[in-house]
Amino acid sequence: MRKKIVAGNWKMNTTLAEGQALASEVIHMVEDETNGEVHVVLIPPFTHLYPVHKLIGSLREKHIYLGAQDCSAHEKGAYTGEVSAAMLQSVGVDYVIVGHSERREYHAEGHDLLAKKALRVLEHGMQLIFCCGEPLAIREAGTYLEYVETQLRESLFALDAESWKRIVIAYEPVWAIGTGKTATPEQAQEVHAHIRRLIAGRYGDALAHEVSILYGGSCKPENAAELFAQADIDGGLIGGASLNARSFVDIVKARQ
Ligand code: PGA
Repeated sequence: MRKKIVAGNWKMNTTLAEGQALASEVIHMVEDETNGEVHVVLIPPFTHLYPVHKLIGSLREKHIYLGAQDCSAHEKGAYTGEVSAAMLQSVGVDYVIVGHSERREYHAEGHDLLAKKALRVLEHGMQLIFCCGEPLAIREAGTYLEYVETQLRESLFALDAESWKRIVIAYEPVWAIGTGKTATPEQAQEVHAHIRRLIAGRYGDALAHEVSILYGGSCKPENAAELFAQADIDGGLIGGASLNARSFVDIVKARQ
């Protein structure tokens, strides 16, 4: 059975105090209101990682985890402003996002760089959340399946099968991120099924069946259940709605 995952990517939001308050609220609600079946990942900014790690404490056993939004492609050294995978691992990070569309777009991160980042995350024993997804022009041109295929093939398909035990894919159509415009369940399912077929083609059916594939892009309590009802949508990567504990935990409950 593959994991059900709901991850909250806070992006560049919250001060430390606000972030601690949000994390505490989410943790309490998840404990009180959910059955512990869904793996919940809190992904605050770098500055809040260790304090949120402390708040999560032993709740990892109850499937509450800590995630980071990015990591450096380098191991260590003179790279001012960068944060390495070893550093993330040392403050208790379980999951790391690589390839978010905002990093691809605003920081010109390409396939080769993302392949290196993915490798760093895996080398340090953490789980990788690898994002893919097409911009609006590609959706309209109808070539989105090929576009997503290239993103996966170029950054991940050189990895061995063993590495895939710690890889989660997030399909996030760029036209749906932060726009309030969600993909329909059918649009999302089409791409999720395609991603699973691609993984099966490269690594075999059994492995493909075990990989969790999350949907991201204006996912909220109102549309989460119908997205999660699709056969190949195993959970969500939540941006805006993860900044409100009530909304985020309602999405977790929709995934149960
Ligand atoms: P959104 O962001 O839920 O605010 O659309 C999703 C994401 O970028 O991970």
